[in-house]
Amino acid sequence: MILDGKKTAEFIRKNLAKEVAALEDTITLALILVGHNPASEVYVNNKMKACAEVGINVKDYFLEETATQKDVLNIIKESNEDPNVHGILVQLPLPSHIDENIVINSISPEKDVDGLTIINQGKLFAGLEAIAPATPKGVISLLKKNYIDIAGKNVVVVGRSNLVGKPLALLFLQNNATVTLAHSKTNNLKEITKRADILAVAVGKPHLITADMVKKDAVVIDIGTTKVEGKLTGDVKFSEVLEVASYITPVPKGVGPMTIASLLENILICYHNQKRLAE
Ligand SMILES: NC(=O)c1ccc[n+]([C@@H]2O[C@H](COP(=O)([O-])OP(=O)(O)OC[C@H]3O[C@@H](n4cnc5c(N)ncnc54)[C@H](OP(=O)(O)O)[C@@H]3O)[C@@H](O)[C@H]2O)c1
Repeated sequence: MILDGKKTAEFIRKNLAKEVAALEDTITLALILVGHNPASEVYVNNKMKACAEVGINVKDYFLEETATQKDVLNIIKESNEDPNVHGILVQLPLPSHIDENIVINSISPEKDVDGLTIINQGKLFAGLEAIAPATPKGVISLLKKNYIDIAGKNVVVVGRSNLVGKPLALLFLQNNATVTLAHSKTNNLKEITKRADILAVAVGKPHLITADMVKKDAVVIDIGTTKVEGKLTGDVKFSEVLEVASYITPVPKGVGPMTIASLLENILICYHNQKRLAE
């Protein structure tokens, strides 16, 4: 069966729109984009559209490629201090002359809608209440909203990036799964993926996962997105794995829309953080 991320995300967005409409304040996200990376421009556009749809105001800062680290840090400082800005998002990657670590960690953790500051990563690691990165959060949300049990399941996450694989493994662990985290140095990947009740793949290698690597009736979450001949392609060979899996996410319309929905949820969490701090 196909796990429809688009439909689930629509449901979440509708509820968020109602929640935002009922608030006394206007929620504002500061969104910073440096340069003209075409993929980043598409992502930023999608995020702005989604914010507009649920009634979140976006203060956009579109900087030229030549902008300095200081320029970006100044905007973040101003946004950190502005009580009318509730969340801050810096679209990655940044041009190579800007240090991503320094920039991200200059965001106030309470306004860190991407959950990428070391404070939010540390909280997630410690099992404390944290703002979780949107893609892993979206994966867990997709499973829960579709009543797919996580507790006690053997979960294999392929890919260990700080943005996706690692936080996803932590979120599965928090949800009481037994987790294996695989990566490019993993020996006998197939033997490991075959044991998964839930297999989540975040690699960026089209069609890495074939039907023979998947246990019968497993739940397969394809996070990978690579442009192949102009078409967005996942890490899972969809047509053949569909025959083996009980549930599978398509690419597109799977994890992508859930990422955006989770980002919107994070913006709302940040808004409530500000309210709490102001009390
Ligand atoms: N749908 C969405 O909303 C969304 C959001 C974010 C990312 N993505 C997509 O998800 C994919 C992963 O993104 P990312 O940022 O996590 O990428 P990344 O930073 O490049 O990480 C890729 C991970 O895959 C591992 N890997 C590479 N080749 C492998 C192989 N043959 N077998 C097993 N593991 C392998 C790497 O292992 P090592 O650590 O050993 O190098 C690394 O941990 C990309 O396609 C990206 O576009 C989608």
